[in-house]
Amino acid sequence: DWNSANVIEEQVERIRAQVGSARVIAGLSGGVDSAVAAAIVHKAVGDQLTCVFVDHGLLRADERKQVEEDYVASTGVRLVTVDAEQQFLDALAGVSDPEQKRKIIGREFIRTFEAAAEALVLEARGDDDAGEVKFLVQGTLYPDVVESGGGSGTANIKSHHNVGGLPEDMTFELVEPLRTLFKDEVRAVGRELGLPEVIVGRQPFPGPGLGIRIVGEVTKDRLELLRAADKIAREELTAAGLDEEIWQCPVVLLADVRSVGVQGDGRTYGHPIVLRPVSSEDAMTADWTRLPYDTLAKISNRITNEVPDVNRVVLDVTSKPPGTIEWE
Ligand code: XMP
Repeated sequence: DWNSANVIEEQVERIRAQVGSARVIAGLSGGVDSAVAAAIVHKAVGDQLTCVFVDHGLLRADERKQVEEDYVASTGVRLVTVDAEQQFLDALAGVSDPEQKRKIIGREFIRTFEAAAEALVLEARGDDDAGEVKFLVQGTLYPDVVESGGGSGTANIKSHHNVGGLPEDMTFELVEPLRTLFKDEVRAVGRELGLPEVIVGRQPFPGPGLGIRIVGEVTKDRLELLRAADKIAREELTAAGLDEEIWQCPVVLLADVRSVGVQGDGRTYGHPIVLRPVSSEDAMTADWTRLPYDTLAKISNRITNEVPDVNRVVLDVTSKPPGTIEWE
């Protein structure tokens, strides 16, 4: 019968047999799957594993800290954080089109991760005591396996992100400790491994991050503003005990829209923030969550009082379909 301790024990044995004395790389996204996958691998092979976390500057408040401090404290993994905010901002400058943004963010992400992986490969080659870096951890879940026809094996980092080939000598064999698990089982395994609840219980968050929650061009100032609004919304939803009820609640900045407001003695001309709370089973369809008015009022008051340049908070009452969950 299924229990998370058995799953961990089984996977630890499998991973040890697969990896031997080679070294392993894992990318952390801040999300549940990559965190749990890397933690199992770490339990199996310890410091043969190095985790890479790309800070693309599109993260939410405290996400980097949760990885660098909470996750590292609970697992003891070796972590390399890559500071890539400026690189991503430069690449995104002047771009408003959603698909372009996604492409740019994906491309820069792969470049950055690839450079970090290459550095680790070279470092290991220069160290006589270290094994070759041969493996890449992937947080593939059972539904992904079924969807893609069950194949497994090797990948280079680029094709892993669906974008083409890496040099031959940077092809990695995959380690996929979550291949038999569903999402709720992954969370159970993560808890059994003692991972922080902020990571194990995290709601879905898109890879392109806040970059696709700014309708309009992505700039540092706008990211800061959105990050502050998002933090307030999350704090109030948690305080109201609503995290279980909602699947996720994107907070979106309409950066190209302004409306007239009044604050104190003066007229303002600021941006709206959109709240998009949704209820869903699998994100394929969704309904807008009927949040209590008091919670909405609190979020609205706090955002308009605390976030500069925002003078209006609006609620998205569209189901999916026809609206997607994200705005871009
Ligand atoms: P949509 O907007 O298509 O979103 O209704 C469905 C779910 O997918 C998430 N999402 C993404 N996740 N990379 C991701 O890892 C992406 O580019 C991406 N776009 C959307 C979204 O947050 C929702 O949970």
